[in-house]
Amino acid sequence: MFSYYSKLSSEVYDLDKYIGRSFGDVEFYSGKLASCTGTILEPGVGTGRMLIPLLEKGLRVEGFDVSEDMLKICRRNCETRGLNPDLFQDHMESFLSDKKYEAIIVPTGTFLLLHRREDSIKALKNFYYHLAEGGKLVLDLSLQTDLSMENISTRTWELGDGEMITLETKKVEVDYINQYTMSHHRYEKWDNGKLVQTELEQFPLRWYGVEEFKLILEQLGFQDIVISADYEYGVYPTEESQMITYEAVVNKECNPV
Ligand SMILES: C[S@@+](CC[C@H](N)C(=O)[O-])C[C@H]1O[C@@H](n2cnc3c(N)ncnc32)[C@H](O)[C@@H]1O
Repeated sequence: MFSYYSKLSSEVYDLDKYIGRSFGDVEFYSGKLASCTGTILEPGVGTGRMLIPLLEKGLRVEGFDVSEDMLKICRRNCETRGLNPDLFQDHMESFLSDKKYEAIIVPTGTFLLLHRREDSIKALKNFYYHLAEGGKLVLDLSLQTDLSMENISTRTWELGDGEMITLETKKVEVDYINQYTMSHHRYEKWDNGKLVQTELEQFPLRWYGVEEFKLILEQLGFQDIVISADYEYGVYPTEESQMITYEAVVNKECNPV
């Protein structure tokens, strides 16, 4: 019934968060990973916004995504830059590979899209299993600062030649017990005032407490956890609007989930 990072949603992501756009994260992750000689994995790779600059720095990075439409754009973005990374369709909570990675990265709050607690735990256990001894998880989270249901927001992207995409966002559920919101994203593509394509996306977003997430990582066996706010290494968050990055190290092998 609902779409999820389908054609229009992916087109908008690539327009809005184009390759070359950074929120401070591209520089931060590039710095963190600069000394990696092994393979880095980016689950939820999307259009390659993070992957491509890392590849261009000479790092060995591969990625997967649940959305074939996002992957299609990612492959095209890579191809036009002469890059040919390993990209595949899979799920964070269930992918299984015989490789062990030196780092697994989940920027841009992508991890919050796993709104069911059991899925998020499965994904973290899966990351742990796929990290080599001494490997590192680097993952961004944000807090939810607006839980009100009244606001409907609209954004517009002009494509030229009379084409335009509009996006209307409306929160439809706040689950305080399970800590997530559910929104509807209504994408519409217009050609000289005529509606030519539409998509209704169901968009979940979970939230965690700053220390809650650290405890989860510790409980799963991650060690040497560092929390950074707004991409300033080791600076603890002080404002609810800040992006929060967790770095955590795997110090022993474990069994698959
Ligand atoms: C906000 S985009 C981030 C893209 C990219 N990492 C970046 O930094 O620009 C989130 C991506 O995660 C993907 N995604 C959502 N749930 C997923 C899951 N369970 N497993 C794998 N990918 C998922 C979406 O399809 C989407 O491409």
